Amino acid sequence: MPRFVCLPGDGIGPEVMIQATRVLMAFGMSFEEQPFGGQAINDYNRPLPHHTLTACRDADAILLGAVGGPQWEGRSPGPEDGLIRLRKEFDVYANLRPARGDGVALLIVRELLGGLYYGRRGTMDDGTVYDVCEYHPQQVERIARRAFELARTRRGKLVSVDKANVLDTSKMWRRVVTGVSADYPDVELRHGLVDSVAMWLVMHPEEFDVIVTENTFGDILSDVAAGVTGGLGLAASASLSDGGPGIFEPVHGSAPDIAGTRSANPTAMLRSLAMAFEHGLGDLEHARAVEAAVDVALAQAPTPDLGGTATTQQFGDAVLEALEVPVK
Ligand code: NAD
Ligand code: IPM
Ligand code: MN
Repeated sequence: MPRFVCLPGDGIGPEVMIQATRVLMAFGMSFEEQPFGGQAINDYNRPLPHHTLTACRDADAILLGAVGGPQWEGRSPGPEDGLIRLRKEFDVYANLRPARGDGVALLIVRELLGGLYYGRRGTMDDGTVYDVCEYHPQQVERIARRAFELARTRRGKLVSVDKANVLDTSKMWRRVVTGVSADYPDVELRHGLVDSVAMWLVMHPEEFDVIVTENTFGDILSDVAAGVTGGLGLAASASLSDGGPGIFEPVHGSAPDIAGTRSANPTAMLRSLAMAFEHGLGDLEHARAVEAAVDVALAQAPTPDLGGTATTQQFGDAVLEALEVPVK
């Protein structure tokens, strides 16, 4: 039996996580919940308590709802710092963020452990505040290989996104990705600048297969990709290392504007669970079962973000009703 650790977090995090744990129970699978994010700051004075980290180390897959909210804004360390640290602890450098719908089937492969998020930062004597964008060529090479491997299993088209007309990190990024491409003659590689790719994503999302990019660009472009394929309520992600448990979480945040209104769309969380089965456990049967049930629920019981009236719980009911439990 796979060991799942669930980190519900804050805002709508726990609301969507409940629907994922209902599915796990229907599969007859067990899981354990641990405090994380703002909730853990309130109860343990830190966003990533030691026992949460220990439990995650023993897990096969980590499911995460969302963290953050106005209550903890400006606090250091804040809920988001817990997430940044968790990603580093598990070396999950490859963040897969698929977006699909209406002729669109693209995959953003976001480098998750470099760039502005993990570079040097500080305040200079004159009050200037800085966050440094740093990348080592090996960090670029390993994410590029991941992206080429993934493109190989899809339509064989890869767009590498950078800002090589200005930034030195991007010039190196482009050089390294071009070097790696020699090992993948079957994949068509193009390079794009992030500003124009953002425009192209909005105008012609159907033209993309796989996009590989650095941390900050990937953060922004994945919300754009979600926006053009039905919104953040649908967008799942998988954060993977080369071994050890992955972290599976929606692209969206804690949505303080709708938390407590019972209207959060649990699709992104449920699709993240499907990604945990597929990419974390290599269990395609359970992955497909979740995806299929979610597709039925999307048609039968859409939530308000999709123009429907179903509550989070009613959406979950529709999922459970449609769920076909694989027999093993
Ligand atoms: P957000 O993603 O939480 O919300 C953006 C918009 O999308 C909101 O209008 C929200 O209502 C809507 N939305 C998001 N998920 C939805 C869902 N499942 N169903 C229906 N509507 C949904 O972004 P934000 O408001 O900019 O950030 C809120 C907080 O979340 C911040 O503290 C931020 O740091 C945090 N955050 C956390 C994560 C994470 O835990 N992985 C990701 C992004 C943002
Ligand atoms: C995401 C979020 C996080 C990020 C924040 C909450 C740290 O926006 O997962 O997209 O920027 O990576
Ligand atoms: Mn984001």
